Amino acid sequence: MTANQGLKLVNLDDSGVDCAFRADVLAGLQQEPKAIPARWFYDETGSRLFEEITALPEYYPTRAETEILTDRSADFAQLIGPGKAVVEFGSGSSVKTPLLLHAIDPAAYVPLDISGDFLRAAAADLSTSFPGLPIYPVEADFTREVTLPDQVRDIPKLGFFPGSTIGNMVARTAVDLLRSMRATLGEGSQLLIGMDLIKDIAVLEAAYDDAAGVTAQFNLNLVRRINRELDGTIPLDALRHVARWNDDFARIEMHLEATRPISFEVSGHSFSLEQGETIHTENSHKFDLRSANMLLLAGGWTPLERWTDREGRFSLILADATLRRNAP
Ligand code: TRP
Repeated sequence: MTANQGLKLVNLDDSGVDCAFRADVLAGLQQEPKAIPARWFYDETGSRLFEEITALPEYYPTRAETEILTDRSADFAQLIGPGKAVVEFGSGSSVKTPLLLHAIDPAAYVPLDISGDFLRAAAADLSTSFPGLPIYPVEADFTREVTLPDQVRDIPKLGFFPGSTIGNMVARTAVDLLRSMRATLGEGSQLLIGMDLIKDIAVLEAAYDDAAGVTAQFNLNLVRRINRELDGTIPLDALRHVARWNDDFARIEMHLEATRPISFEVSGHSFSLEQGETIHTENSHKFDLRSANMLLLAGGWTPLERWTDREGRFSLILADATLRRNAP
């Protein structure tokens, strides 16, 4: 397959505990304010709950981005063209990826994901709908430069990064990722990236705090996972899901807030939360035209074209990695 094959991506200790999970949770609870990296949301239950989130009436981003991919296929065909190797960062969505592939008629599809299971499932799915399309899945951490399969070395690349996942990173991490993508894809490549837009605060907050409570369950599932996998004693009934807009950083923040003072243990370490104190669990940055352009440029990508859905809620941006020497 690839140079990345055989890489050990998960490191378990003698009792089967994921060492990186334990290290991140302990460090996150020891710091002030408390925060746990969002990547740990996605165990089996978390992944299922996230799928449910994307179908919620309040959660507009998935539908808005799908609308753009459906309505703008002629633009993609023209500006991207056929014969590209599509490199998707993340194992792909069964809805969005086919829309793009149908629109542009690519030469190959290369999904990158850290989870081999997700990757194989997504690749198997797609090969049924696109029987003639060569698919080369790569199990890799795409936050670093990835060596792409030899088969696509001489094919022009289009990176695909939908879902506004770039918004789940703080600016420094987002810029590092964009630069890694540029290194992975190479000079002259293109990137099609989803970026959610700044809008009415009530609409934004509802998207991350739905009436049915699915996003709350998604957030609280992280605590269940800590209790189960790291011998945690965190009282679930004393934590509530909070989604709030942070205007200074143009982002929705998800927190777990203590409704009373609590003490608990995780992996033999003691912690406490005061009433009203929170554990910060996720950021979802929102963009306008200028901040989106600035972020892409900082990461080495020149914006070429931008599309929004009919209600102007979400944007898809096409950028390229071509050196322009005419800057003053
Ligand atoms: N990137 C998407 C967003 O920020 C999806 C997402 C990531 C998400 N983490 C989330 C959605 C937590 C809801 C809750 O919207």
